[in-house]
Parts: sequence; structure tokens; C-alpha cells
Amino acid sequence: MPVFAPTRSLSSLVRFDSAPSPHVAKALHPAGATFRISAVDLDAIAAGLAASARAMPLDQHEPTRRYTRVLATPSYDAWVIAWSPSAELDVHDHAGSTAAVHVVEGELVERRTDLVTGRSLGLRTVRAGETIRVAPTIAHGVANCGPGDALSVHVYSPPLTGMTFYEQTATGLEAISVRSNSAVMR
Ligand SMILES: [Fe+2]
Repeated sequence: MPVFAPTRSLSSLVRFDSAPSPHVAKALHPAGATFRISAVDLDAIAAGLAASARAMPLDQHEPTRRYTRVLATPSYDAWVIAWSPSAELDVHDHAGSTAAVHVVEGELVERRTDLVTGRSLGLRTVRAGETIRVAPTIAHGVANCGPGDALSVHVYSPPLTGMTFYEQTATGLEAISVRSNSAVMR
């Protein structure tokens, strides 16, 4: 079984302004063991991929979003997503993965809830060039509220296996559906 299966040429995808950390280097050249890489390194991978995101062919389609997985390794995977105006992904978790989301073009509005306390953590606008981290204990919804398209890079460690979607109720979030990685993504 291959331990590293990039869906694109890695050298053409990842660009760093400075040398990657040892953890990133290990993630790019894994020895075969699955491991969770740090949030800092997820940020660096997302920002590195952003330089090439516009050139990615997005071969999976929903009515308002196009996306593709551009890298798949034992320790993380990475996706590029194009959001049409009004595109929205309902509140969801990442099945235990930590995520870094880097906005390449346009801007996205994120609302998040703490899954442990059930408390709303409010809204934020993520603009081009900005990266947010999503811990495994966070559920979030993401939308393109702008007049133009948005483009973003999403990196998950461990690799994303699926998402649980939630509905806000009077007593907190209630899980309403689960989507596996084979059916999704994001
Ligand atoms: Fe997400």
C-alpha cells in the first residue's frame, strides 16, 4: 500500500517562503506511520498550497461549490474549494481531525460552536490571505456572503474521514446527519 499518494505533483503544489519545519518535512516525506501534525504546520501547508490553488482543476461539483482533494498522505489531506456567491456549508465537525482553512480569493464567513460546551463562539469573516484553525472540539458553518466567488484551501490532520452535520436547537447542537469522506468532501 502506498504511504504517500499525492493526487498532483507535490513539487508543483507546495511553495514555502521559508524552509518548512521538521514536522512539515516529515509530513511531506512520511516514513509510513500515521500521525497528527501540528496546527502550525497545517497552517504552513495550507498557505503553501494557496500559491497554486487557482490552477487546480476542481472535478467534484455541487450546485454552489466545486472542489477536489489535491493531496492525500497518511498524516493529512488537502482540498481546494471554490464557493459561488451564496454557497454555504451547514454547521459540521471534522470527525476528530484538526483543520486549517486558508482563503485564497474573496472572503468566507464562519460561524462556530464549541462542541464541548455547546456555546456559540460567534461569526467571523475570513479574508483572502488569512488562515483559521478548527480544533476537533469545534463545529462550524462556512458561507460565501460576498458578491463574487471565493476560493479556499482546507488541510486536515489526521486525514478527513467524514463530517457530522448539526442543527441548532433550544438545548444546543443536535447531530442530524453524517457524511463519509467517500461522499463528501470538505
Ligand atoms: Fe469544515
